[in-house]
Amino acid sequence: MGLLSHVLLFLFLFTIPAKSADPLCEYCNTNTNISSNQTSANIEGLLSQLVSGTILNGYIATSNGKNKDQVYGLAQCRADVGRKDCSTCIQDTEKEIQKRCPNQADARIWYDFCFLRHDIKDFFGEVDTGFGIIVYNVGNVTNPETFNKELTTLTEWITLQAVVTGNKGNGRDKTKLTPFTTLYALVQCTRDLLGSIQ
Ligand SMILES: *[C@@H]1O[C@H](CO)[C@@H](O)[C@H](O)[C@H]1NC(C)=O
Ligand SMILES: *[C@@H]1O[C@H](CO)[C@@H](O)[C@H](O)[C@H]1NC(C)=O
Ligand SMILES: *[C@@H]1O[C@H](CO)[C@@H](O)[C@H](O)[C@H]1NC(C)=O
Repeated sequence: MGLLSHVLLFLFLFTIPAKSADPLCEYCNTNTNISSNQTSANIEGLLSQLVSGTILNGYIATSNGKNKDQVYGLAQCRADVGRKDCSTCIQDTEKEIQKRCPNQADARIWYDFCFLRHDIKDFFGEVDTGFGIIVYNVGNVTNPETFNKELTTLTEWITLQAVVTGNKGNGRDKTKLTPFTTLYALVQCTRDLLGSIQ
């Protein structure tokens, strides 16, 4: 029984096709439905440039094609994420964005470790707060007053850190609320907003 179950488990493991992880969220702009095959082809080409660029450098903003079929894309990993996790994550965005927004020129997808967006308009350098999600723990803090005070201080601090030259838009830190409780915080800007202070 022992041996047989091991063999079965082995076969089972190797017959599961590689499946990409679910994103935190995605945004498919249905006002930008694709009407040209050239745009679709340009997006496909763009996606592979975005993936290879991100695997190489952790970030890329580029465009593909010309005239009305030109498409713009940005992809990046969180600056504190290692190469292997970054690579896995950004490859998942390519598969999932095609699956979830197959017909939209403006599409965005968020994971814990990485982010990808493409569009027919040049969005580089524009602050985008047009879409987001809030995920929270249902547990309540024991001392809201201390918590909120410490959270404000910590958030202001990591926001300053994010725009320090060399930090790649990433700010993160932690603070002790009690000897047994630590509050962690992290922020990541898209790196097209940083200009020369990458
Ligand atoms: C885009 O396509 C979706 C279905 O794929 C449709 O529901 C939507 O109305 C379309 N948007 C426009 C602006 O035509
Ligand atoms: C896109 O290609 C399909 C076949 O691959 C074709 O049926 C369709 O007419 C083309 N659409 C445009 C807008 O060229
Ligand atoms: C947290 O506090 C809210 C009210 O502020 C209450 O409705 C909720 O039940 C509390 N949750 C837990 C897990 O105690």
